[in-house]
Amino acid sequence: MRIAILSKGSLNYTTKRLREVAEARGHEVIVVNYAKCYMTMERSKPIIYYKGKALEKFDAIIPRIAQSYTKYGTAVVRQFEMQGSFSTASSIAINRSRDKLRSYQIMARQDVNIPKTVFARETADLDEVVELAGGAPVIIKVARGTHGNGVVLAETRKAAKAVMQAFYVEGVNFMVQEFVAESAGTDIRALVVGGRVVASIERVSLDDDFRSNTHQGGVGKAVKLTPEEEKTAIKAAKAMNLPVCGVDMMRSKNGPKVLEVNSSASIKTPELVTKRDVATIIIEYVERNAKAKPRKDKVGA
Ligand SMILES: Nc1ncnc2c1ncn2[C@@H]1O[C@H](COP(=O)(O)OP(=O)(O)O)[C@@H](O)[C@H]1O
Ligand SMILES: [Mg+2]
Repeated sequence: MRIAILSKGSLNYTTKRLREVAEARGHEVIVVNYAKCYMTMERSKPIIYYKGKALEKFDAIIPRIAQSYTKYGTAVVRQFEMQGSFSTASSIAINRSRDKLRSYQIMARQDVNIPKTVFARETADLDEVVELAGGAPVIIKVARGTHGNGVVLAETRKAAKAVMQAFYVEGVNFMVQEFVAESAGTDIRALVVGGRVVASIERVSLDDDFRSNTHQGGVGKAVKLTPEEEKTAIKAAKAMNLPVCGVDMMRSKNGPKVLEVNSSASIKTPELVTKRDVATIIIEYVERNAKAKPRKDKVGA
């Protein structure tokens, strides 16, 4: 098969592993820097140019779109979809996953357990917003944050109101969320491929930060999920229509609660700490699905 990995960094661990595994299995693999692609649209003729040439059709693409390139990156993914390439993540699913509010709405509708979340405008009664989220302490998070950078723990009602007011002044979209105190500083990342959890790690913050993101100094170790946690991860992946993804959950007293679903999850820490060969599982998934049948373009809205 001809496979394109859409990635800005050909030296990135995940990109390298996917490439080496796919090539070893006899596929032709090209790492395409989507940020440098340009596209033409005219009647029934979606073309993607890269390094001065029109790309020939790929059987499959594996998008690894950086958060800061979501808009351009998903437009490129969409162009590949219009050419009929199989994708491990659709442009629309990537877009949804990048907006936390939209993701929570989708997951809640599909009965996925999430922390109770409130979204409101400045016209709302801020005391009531804090109460609806379970009362202080509460988590306040911006809709498009990543790596833990847009997530605040407001310890008191007063602090929560001040943070909300500051965000309103700046016109930032945010949500107020129930604080999962029981496992603050720890979360679980489950990698899901084709409806199965293939590796799972627990991330613990090092310096008593309530955020466990590895970008904030969190460290990962292998963890065994309970059946309920596995089911929740698989359900979240399905709700978000992301067959290959990383589902972040927290262990709460009311069972696992999903924080987010990542469409370009790194396989580095999961592979290194669990010793599972996640790259091969992903390429096998692509092999099973890319050749299934000719695809109609289902780009949607
Ligand atoms: N409701 C919550 N209760 C307790 N901790 C939380 C909550 N939401 C987020 N966190 C912590 O903050 C981290 C970042 O939050 P997350 O929603 O995943 O945003 P990001 O996209 O920035 O990673 C999580 O990994 C978790 O450790
Ligand atoms: Mg996160």
